[in-house]
Amino acid sequence: MASISNAFSLSLPSNRIANSSSDFNPITSALSGLDSGEFSPGRVAVSKPSGIGGRICANATPVMDQPVGEKSSGAPTIVEVDLGNRSYPIYIGSGLFDQPELLQNFDRHVHGKKVIVVTNTTIAPLYLDKVVEALTKGNTAVSVEYVILPDGEKFKDMDTLMKVFDKAIESRLDRRCTFVALGGGVIGDMCGFAAASFLRGVNFIQIPTTVMAQVDSSVGGKTGINHPLGKNLIGAFYQPQCVLIDTDTLDTLPDRELASGLAEVIKYGLIIDAEFFEWQEKNMEKLIARNPNALAYAIKRSCENKAEAVSFDEKESGLRATLNLGHTFGHAIETGFGYGQWLHGEAVAAGMVMAVDMSYRLGWIDSSIVKRVDDILLRAKLPTAPPETMTVEMFKSVMAVDKKVADGLLRLILLKGPLGNSVFTGFLLIEVHCRSLVPSCNVSIYDKPIKIKHIY
Ligand SMILES: NC(=O)c1ccc[n+]([C@@H]2O[C@H](COP(=O)([O-])OP(=O)(O)OC[C@H]3O[C@@H](n4cnc5c(N)ncnc54)[C@H](O)[C@@H]3O)[C@@H](O)[C@H]2O)c1
Ligand SMILES: [Zn+2]
Repeated sequence: MASISNAFSLSLPSNRIANSSSDFNPITSALSGLDSGEFSPGRVAVSKPSGIGGRICANATPVMDQPVGEKSSGAPTIVEVDLGNRSYPIYIGSGLFDQPELLQNFDRHVHGKKVIVVTNTTIAPLYLDKVVEALTKGNTAVSVEYVILPDGEKFKDMDTLMKVFDKAIESRLDRRCTFVALGGGVIGDMCGFAAASFLRGVNFIQIPTTVMAQVDSSVGGKTGINHPLGKNLIGAFYQPQCVLIDTDTLDTLPDRELASGLAEVIKYGLIIDAEFFEWQEKNMEKLIARNPNALAYAIKRSCENKAEAVSFDEKESGLRATLNLGHTFGHAIETGFGYGQWLHGEAVAAGMVMAVDMSYRLGWIDSSIVKRVDDILLRAKLPTAPPETMTVEMFKSVMAVDKKVADGLLRLILLKGPLGNSVFTGFLLIEVHCRSLVPSCNVSIYDKPIKIKHIY
């Protein structure tokens, strides 16, 4: 193991050196009482339940064995999220909007006779009619209302959420109504939070239309909105009745959004599924070129990884937290730089590079992993460094209110060991003489020893 104190010194351009004494920082304030420089190797943070790591039941035919470009429509692939009596299916496939029986599973999915579809100005003209048709075809008893919100992360806020409640109340929706989220992660998170809080909780269905939402945000029940001081700070855990992923919706997704979603796909490989990462290394160009089989496989396998993590740790006390690799840094970029400037996946990509670099500097992973991460992100057309204008002060002020700050201590997800293993550092204490973040080096840099109290 490399000496921790040596691992973090680097000389930096003086114009980017932060004034470390200015802001209150929960990390320094929590340092008292700890032995300087001591490092307890601890246990590997997340002991994977059996079944995780090797298998992940990604038993679909590998894409390289399938005809390129062919869409396989028909019966959906189903990934089950196992949460006891709140378990639900994720339907994945092409042409699913033409299979109304999936949504109209009234015992299980749509409750009552009133449905409200929450979508936005971009998605409504593309898919709202199809979804209304899928909900109502052969079934006149159901009435569907809809609310079309402005498009963008900057509208993931309380004012926009109120528009959903306005419509729901005007439409006299009762406790047996169903909220349907039709859109990307912004719509899914907002609609889910609206469903969690309207009349103290109503039925809810996710129809995600971005890669980001299909591989990550629509699964697992994390819902919420942003606050000007931090991302996703207001929200609830609230599981949907089902998730319907019609992969045809990706045909209209802009390239940049597609790449953004791939950041989360890459994340699964790094934290939990080395085999999947290796598959991505062989197939990244196919994913970028929207090969339908490659995308379907990546979505399925990502959903399996997410479903497994959620099943074991719904409220994010351990295993599920590892899904946040790169997110603490990433959220700082999104918030500090202004919502909507960098896409979520772009910020997460740069954040993952920072987390991977940190893992390497701690001696937890070898340099080949650092290079592989950099390479695959570049091939996915994702950034590998934070924006040049992002200062240390911006990072510090946003990270101080990150959700993963517990009792004033910052918690980070890092990689440890062979590819596919991650740790949740419960109390990672970083001296705040944090000097700079140097985009050209792709890394976060600290000029003081890192002290770690616990690793779970
Ligand atoms: N709840 C979770 O567990 C979780 C996980 C990951 C991300 N998120 C959240 O998800 C959000 C990001 O989601 P996102 O990347 O989907 O962004 P998004 O919802 O803003 O969608 C991206 C853009 O693509 C457009 N769009 C969506 N589907 C389209 C389609 N099929 N064709 C054409 N355009 C389409 C949208 O209108 C939007 O302009 C962030 O707010 C993030 O915090 C939540
Ligand atoms: Zn994310």
